[in-house]
Amino acid sequence: MKILTFLIFFFITCFLITPSTSSSNETDVLALLNFKAGIELDPLGALNSWNQTTHFCNWNGIQCGHMHHNRVVEINLLSQGLVGPLSPHIGNLSFLRSITLKNNSFNGKIPQEIGMLRRLKFLDLSNNSFVGAIPRNLSQCSNLVHISLVDNILSGSIPSELDSLYKLKKLLIGKNDLSGSIPPSTGNLTSLTYLYLGSSSLNGEIPESLAQLQSLVYLNIGENNLTGTIPHGLFNISTIITFAVHANKLQAEIPFNIGLKLPNLEGLYLGGNQLTGLIPPSLSNASSLEHIVLLMNSFTGPMPNIGGLSHLQTFTIALNQIQDDISFITSLTNCTNLQLLEIGDNLLTGSLPTAIVNMSTYLSSIAISNTQIHGKIPFGIGNLVGLTRLSLQGNYLDGSVPPSIGELYNVRELDLGGNSFTNQIPSSFNNLTWLILLSLSRNNFSGSIQSLSNCTNLLDLDLSYNNFNGPIPPQIMSLSSISISLNLSYNSFVGYIPFEVGFLSSLTKLDLSNNRLSGFIPRSLSSCLSLQTLYLEANSLEGEIPGGLSALTGLQDLDLSRNNFFGPIPRFLSELRLEKLNLSHNRLQGEVPILGIFRNRTLFSLDGNEQLCGGITELNLPPCSLSNSPSQNSTLLKILIPAVVSGGILFAVSVFLVIFLYKRRMARKKSPIMPSLIGNQFLRLSYADLLKAPDEFNETNLVGSGRYGSVYKGILDDETTLIAVKVLNLSIRGASKSFLAECNA
Ligand SMILES: *[C@@H]1O[C@H](CO)[C@@H](O)[C@H](O)[C@H]1NC(C)=O
Ligand SMILES: *[C@@H]1O[C@H](CO)[C@@H](O)[C@H](O)[C@H]1NC(C)=O
Ligand SMILES: *[C@@H]1O[C@H](CO)[C@@H](O)[C@H](O)[C@H]1NC(C)=O
Ligand SMILES: *[C@@H]1O[C@H](CO)[C@@H](O)[C@H](O)[C@H]1NC(C)=O
Ligand SMILES: *[C@@H]1O[C@H](CO)[C@@H](O)[C@H](O)[C@H]1NC(C)=O
Ligand SMILES: *[C@@H]1O[C@H](CO)[C@@H](O)[C@H](O)[C@H]1NC(C)=O
Ligand SMILES: *[C@@H]1O[C@H](CO)[C@@H](O)[C@H](O)[C@H]1NC(C)=O
Ligand SMILES: *[C@@H]1O[C@H](CO)[C@@H](O)[C@H](O)[C@H]1NC(C)=O
Ligand SMILES: *[C@@H]1O[C@H](CO)[C@@H](O)[C@H](O)[C@H]1NC(C)=O
Ligand SMILES: *[C@@H]1O[C@H](CO)[C@@H](O)[C@H](O)[C@H]1NC(C)=O
Ligand SMILES: *[C@@H]1O[C@H](CO)[C@@H](O)[C@H](O)[C@H]1NC(C)=O
Ligand SMILES: *[C@@H]1O[C@H](CO)[C@@H](O)[C@H](O)[C@H]1NC(C)=O
Repeated sequence: MKILTFLIFFFITCFLITPSTSSSNETDVLALLNFKAGIELDPLGALNSWNQTTHFCNWNGIQCGHMHHNRVVEINLLSQGLVGPLSPHIGNLSFLRSITLKNNSFNGKIPQEIGMLRRLKFLDLSNNSFVGAIPRNLSQCSNLVHISLVDNILSGSIPSELDSLYKLKKLLIGKNDLSGSIPPSTGNLTSLTYLYLGSSSLNGEIPESLAQLQSLVYLNIGENNLTGTIPHGLFNISTIITFAVHANKLQAEIPFNIGLKLPNLEGLYLGGNQLTGLIPPSLSNASSLEHIVLLMNSFTGPMPNIGGLSHLQTFTIALNQIQDDISFITSLTNCTNLQLLEIGDNLLTGSLPTAIVNMSTYLSSIAISNTQIHGKIPFGIGNLVGLTRLSLQGNYLDGSVPPSIGELYNVRELDLGGNSFTNQIPSSFNNLTWLILLSLSRNNFSGSIQSLSNCTNLLDLDLSYNNFNGPIPPQIMSLSSISISLNLSYNSFVGYIPFEVGFLSSLTKLDLSNNRLSGFIPRSLSSCLSLQTLYLEANSLEGEIPGGLSALTGLQDLDLSRNNFFGPIPRFLSELRLEKLNLSHNRLQGEVPILGIFRNRTLFSLDGNEQLCGGITELNLPPCSLSNSPSQNSTLLKILIPAVVSGGILFAVSVFLVIFLYKRRMARKKSPIMPSLIGNQFLRLSYADLLKAPDEFNETNLVGSGRYGSVYKGILDDETTLIAVKVLNLSIRGASKSFLAECNA
């Protein structure tokens, strides 16, 4: 009776669940519900419809068969953001012909149960996070035509059992963490047209048997650790369109007749191996060639004429030992689809042909660095307006950079370093607003660098080793996008370090060394919180080492040597995590700390500072006595001279307020440098503002000192107003007179 009730209930339930069908298969629905139960996260609600109010054949991503009604034949959940393991119940969907789970976040192992799917033809699990081995049982899915497991975290070796999948046309298992070698049995998969085993940490030699894959169109075994030679049989597979063995450790010569044997070739990727010999002239016979990537090998000899390859888009032969006159690129003007030309680091000579500007209008990158070519940059830009990258670094090019460079307004990376360019940089540089990397280093450029101030997207600016002169434009220091490196070293810049340097808050490396900069390190430098390397050596900077530098907690390498810094070595230097410190050849005095970097003699230098004491014993300095203490209070008279900063230029305002203070140190050194302070505007300030603005008259903000006192500068709370404060030392005769004189002024 009970059983009968249950059966009645069961049939009613079945009827309710699947009102439209009578031959529903509960195996499939259970398998699918288990599939759904395994999913941990379904951010897009891809499986919302997988509920029993709807027939499973109408569920999202499910397709049922025509012949076998109500049996699932296809699951397609492409790019649904699903997270979780793949349920082993998938093996119960015995009518499945196609599974697409590409671009989700499936994790865990690929279940062996997948091997039960004897009807499966198409399996795409690419771009997920599957781990573990490729399931051996996959080899039982004897109808498989397409396997893609690309871009997962699969490990272990490629199961040789897969060679039984004789119907397989596409085997794509690259971008995983596999190990071992390519199984020779892969050569048994003679139906294969696509074989992608790239980026999979495979090693060993390329099996000769791959030459049996006579239907192959796409071969990519690049970016592995393969050794030995390239089996010559591979060059006999005339159907090949893409031939990629790049980034391995292969040693071989390329057959001279490659272009005749592979007449359909579109992509030849051999870069990053140890290949030798000549570049075969027969390449010009493979008239469909679009990509020739031979860079980073040991090819020798001249460059054959490939100007007839009208489809050519990529031509990279950089970093070989090709010996030729650069004029060979003239023949490439017929390659009207060329986008990428990288031929540097070869033994190229001759003069840069002006025909370079007649090359393809699609050219986006030209790199001819580190060769021996000479000549000038052609005057007109011609077809090259689309260039995003131009590197001519490390050659013997000379003359002026033509103003037409400003027409390269798409350029992101421009490297003209290490040549003999002269004269000013053209003002048309202010058109190059997209520049990200700019190097003009190691040339003979001179003049101002004002025209770079429109380059507001720069990440890296290198102007080192030139003859640039004049003050550093505040606008350059305001290029706050610069985050990798700002290198102005070995030029002839004069004047102060602009306080705008504080805008470089993302900057990692600042090198202003070996110029003629004077004055004080601006307090604003303490806003460059990302600094790891700071080189200010070999200038005429002065003042005490500013306390504000203690904010630069990421600083690893600091060089202030060969300046006129005086005063004590601040304690915070021993608290930073410095790895290198050079304070040599200044006028520092007083006690050398013994902690932090000062513990290791090999990591710092203090040579050429005459009045130091203490420190670790290896320094052989005299012990400190009380008289070494540099600090002494005295009566100071402070005059405020407020100034306003406008457009980065300091306008002095006028003498305004007088304050007497009993505080702080005597101003120490004479210096002829005094900013000229003239102006006609008044500024109302409270005493508290004043004290706060220049950091309580900390030496950091000294901008100059004279016979009777020192001038400090500071930024007021509104952060746009720069003020200058003069501190007079009343204990020096004549100081009060000088003060009165300035008041009158
Ligand atoms: C459902 O499918 C399974 C596996 O193919 C089969 O054993 C079972 O007989 C089917 N049931 C129905 C009701 O079709
Ligand atoms: C079940 O799926 C249908 C769409 O097929 C949807 O409208 C309904 O909200 C779902 N029910 C639940 C409880 O998720
Ligand atoms: C991958 O899937 C995500 C959704 O999870 C989607 O936003 C993205 O566009 C997909 N990527 C590709 C290349 O299809
Ligand atoms: C479905 O698959 C699971 C896991 O492989 C298995 O335990 C279960 O017995 C299967 N169910 C059916 C109805 O075949
Ligand atoms: C791979 O998956 C990630 C994460 O869903 C997505 O951002 C990316 O676009 C996918 N790539 C491809 C090639 O599908
Ligand atoms: C894998 O295949 C072997 C050999 O056919 C079989 O014995 C085993 O049950 C299969 N494993 C699963 C989980 O299907
Ligand atoms: C498969 O390949 C291996 C190694 O190349 C070979 O020894 C074997 O005879 C091949 N098997 C078949 C069935 O072709
Ligand atoms: C490549 O193989 C060499 C030995 O041949 C090994 O030392 C190295 O770690 C391997 N590199 C990778 C990335 O697998
Ligand atoms: C470019 O092609 C034209 C016609 O196809 C040919 O006459 C000329 O010699 C070629 N120029 C170069 C430099 O190869
Ligand atoms: C600046 O770029 C524009 C296109 O944005 C171009 O038309 C103009 O000729 C360039 N000016 C100079 C001086 O190169
Ligand atoms: C570049 O700067 C100049 C002023 O030097 C300005 O007039 C011009 O509009 C700027 N050009 C671009 C493209 O931003
Ligand atoms: C000092 O630093 C050097 C370089 O980092 C290191 O090799 C050496 O061991 C250090 N010496 C001491 C005593 O820590």
